Amino acid sequence: MPQHSFQLNGKQVTVDTEDNVRLLWVLRDLLGVTGPKYGCGLNVCKACTSHINGKAFNPCSVPVSDIKATDEITTIEGLADEQTGTLHPMQEAWLDHDVAQCGYCQPGQIMAAVAKVKAAKAEGRELTDADFDDIRNICRCGTYFRIREAIKTAEAKM
Ligand code: FES
Ligand code: FES
Repeated sequence: MPQHSFQLNGKQVTVDTEDNVRLLWVLRDLLGVTGPKYGCGLNVCKACTSHINGKAFNPCSVPVSDIKATDEITTIEGLADEQTGTLHPMQEAWLDHDVAQCGYCQPGQIMAAVAKVKAAKAEGRELTDADFDDIRNICRCGTYFRIREAIKTAEAKM
């Protein structure tokens, strides 16, 4: 079986699995990292949103063979500061606004939000309505209003 290595939440990991296995299954089934959720498996619902090299992506749609050893994958498990135990400002804002309902979509929502704010800050600007509209993560519980309020709160602290 081929071996695949990459960085996961700050640590180098290696798995033995076929090339065409999607990264979401590698994370969840082989590495036990279950923050990224399985919704559609088709890059539509965005429940699995994580980061690759700081940018949002959907591991349900990426074969593990496409990931390089130097690629840094971050899931919701890697967002808080492991050294201090301090939550990321986006996670704090989520709690402050009591965003989550069933919770299923929320790891993906938070990861999408963090990537959006970082991208805007890298361009030296604040999030626009177009940025918010660009976040396509589906929430079946309809927490969209609280999500936007939390993102605005976190943006001010990031
Ligand atoms: S499970 Fe990945 S986008 Fe739906
Ligand atoms: S909180 Fe239930 S799907 Fe979003």
